[in-house]
Amino acid sequence: MSAKERGYADLHDHLERLRARGLLVEIDRPVDKDAEMHPLVRWQYVGGIEEHERKAFLFTNPVNAKGRKYAFPVVVGAYAGNREIYGVGMDAPLDEVQQRWDRAIANPIPPVVVDSAPCQEVVLTGTDLQGEGKGLDALPIPVSTPGFDGAPTLTATNVVTKDPDTGIHNHGTYRAGLKAPDRMVVRMATRVGGAGGYRHYQKHQKRGDKTMPVAIVLGAPPCAAFVAPMKLPIDLDEMGVAGGVAGAPIRVVRAKTVDLMVPADAEIVIEGLIDTESVEPEGPFGESHGHVALEQFNMPMRVTAITHRKNAIVASYISQVTPSESSAIKRVSYEPMFLSHLRNTLGIKGVKRVTLHERMTALRRMAIVTVEQGTPKSEVWRALYGVTSFKADCGKICIAVNDDIDPDNSDALFWAMAFRMSPAEDIQILKHRSGGHGPEREHETDQEDSTLLIDATAKEILPPFALPKREYMERSRKLWEEIGLPKLRPQSPWFGTASGDWLPVWDAGGKRAAEGDYLENGRISAKAARKGLKPESSYRPDRED
Ligand SMILES: Cc1cc2nc3c(=O)[nH]c(=O)nc-3n(C[C@H](O)[C@H](O)[C@H](O)COP(=O)(O)O)c2cc1C
Repeated sequence: MSAKERGYADLHDHLERLRARGLLVEIDRPVDKDAEMHPLVRWQYVGGIEEHERKAFLFTNPVNAKGRKYAFPVVVGAYAGNREIYGVGMDAPLDEVQQRWDRAIANPIPPVVVDSAPCQEVVLTGTDLQGEGKGLDALPIPVSTPGFDGAPTLTATNVVTKDPDTGIHNHGTYRAGLKAPDRMVVRMATRVGGAGGYRHYQKHQKRGDKTMPVAIVLGAPPCAAFVAPMKLPIDLDEMGVAGGVAGAPIRVVRAKTVDLMVPADAEIVIEGLIDTESVEPEGPFGESHGHVALEQFNMPMRVTAITHRKNAIVASYISQVTPSESSAIKRVSYEPMFLSHLRNTLGIKGVKRVTLHERMTALRRMAIVTVEQGTPKSEVWRALYGVTSFKADCGKICIAVNDDIDPDNSDALFWAMAFRMSPAEDIQILKHRSGGHGPEREHETDQEDSTLLIDATAKEILPPFALPKREYMERSRKLWEEIGLPKLRPQSPWFGTASGDWLPVWDAGGKRAAEGDYLENGRISAKAARKGLKPESSYRPDRED
C-alpha cells in the first residue's frame, strides 16, 4: 500500500523522502551497533556541524562485538535528526508545524481498524523468543551511551497501554532496557503529571491485576511516532491526533497476544505483560538532562510476542545530551506553544519569539523571550512571568532580549546581559519551583527549585552594532574565498546595520571614509571645532543650529 493510498507515510516511505532530499546517509560497511553506531551519529551534534547539515543515518549492516550479524537494518535520526527531517515527517513546512498540531488536536480523526497488517507479516511467540540470538536478542537495538549504559535500550518507542476503566489507549515514548530475549525493563516517569502509561499501571495495581498488557511499537509511521513524546491532554486518543496530523485515519490492528490496538503500518511490535507486583533495576542510561541516570527500579515486561514486517527496519532515537533528536522533536512544537501562550492567551504586546535553549540544557532550563525595541517594562516582565509559569518544568532561567540579539547565540546573550542589564534593577528571583527532570542527587531530599528572571533588553535606544556593514563583509568574504583561506562558518551577528541611535550625517561620513574620502570628513569636523569643552563631551550634529 502506498503513502498516497494510506494518506500518510510509513517509515519506508519517509526514508525514501529523506533520500530524495539528500537527508539520509546510508552506511553499508559493518558498524558495531553497541560501540560505534550512536557515537558515530553523535559526532554530528558535537562536531561543529550546523543544525541544517545534520542527517538521518541508515546502517544496513549492523553487527555486535561478538561478530553477530542482524537481519534488520537500523536507522538513527530518521524522525528528527534535525528540524527539516521532522518537517518531512510532518509533511509540512516548519512554519506550519504548529498550525498542523493545533488543527489535529482540535479535529482528531479516529483510527480505522484493519484485519491484516504489515507489522504482523511475521509473528514470533513461545520458543521463538527464548535463547540467545532469538526474540529481543535478534533485534539490533543499539547501546545509546557506550561505556555508561547497562544495556541496549529501546528509545524510538510508542509504548501502548490502555486505561482499564475507559479503554482509552495511551502512546508514550518511554525507554526500555533489554534484559533477556523475552524480558526488558520499561521506565515510565512517576512524577506528578508523569507518564500516561504509569497512570494505567497504577490503575491496574489498584484493581489487583498482577500484570498490565503493553505493546511497544518500533518504527511507527512518523505522524504516529510524533504524538508519543507530546504532552497531550490526558485521555485524548493519540492515534486520533496522529490521524488529524495526517488528514486521514491511522490504520490500527489488534495485537496478537494482548488486547491492544497498534499502528498497522509500524515496523516492529513487541507485545507483553508488565509485572505490576515487582520491579527490577534498570539503567544506568545517559539522560537528556546531561547526566547519567543511575540504576532505578522500574517495570519488568515479559515479552509474549514480537511481530514485524518482513523487511522491518529498527529505528533508534539519538537522545541523551542535547542537542539531539529528542530535543529537535520537542523544540518544533514547544516554542510555538510558548509564543502562542504569551501572545494569544496573555495578550502581551511586543513579543516576537520564545526560544528554549537547546545545547546541553535540554530546552527545559533556559528560555529566552525576544521583544521588540521599546516594549514597555511592564510588558517585558509580564512576558517573563508568563514564560516561567507556563510549564512546570520549563523556564527556570528566563531572559528577555531585543530582536537584535540572536537567542541561539549564547555569546550574544552574554553581551546583552553584560551591557543592558543592571543586576540590582533587572533581576528577580522567585521561590517555589518544582525540581523537574534532572540528575538524581542522593543527598538532596528537598527537590524544590527557584526561578531567575532577567530583563536584558535595552533600556534606551543604543548606537548600531559595531561590525562592518553587510556589504563590506560580503565583499571581503568573496576576497577571503578567492585567496583560498579556510572555509567560513559565519556566526550571527557578523555585520552591523545602520539602526538605533545613528544619524544620516554619520552614515554619509562612514560611506565617505570607506570610499577613501576621509579628508572631506576632516573638513566638516574642522568647522565644528570649539573652545571650553571637556574631552569626551558628546557632539550631536542634529542638535546644532
Ligand atoms: C527520546 C525520548 C525518550 C523519552 N524517554 C522517556 C522515558 O524513558 N520515560 C518517560 O516517562 N518519558 C520519556 N520521555 C518523555 C515522554 O515521551 C513524554 O513525557 C510524553 O509526553 C509521554 O507521553 P504521555 O504523556 O502519554 O505519558 C522521552 C521522550 C523522548 C523524546
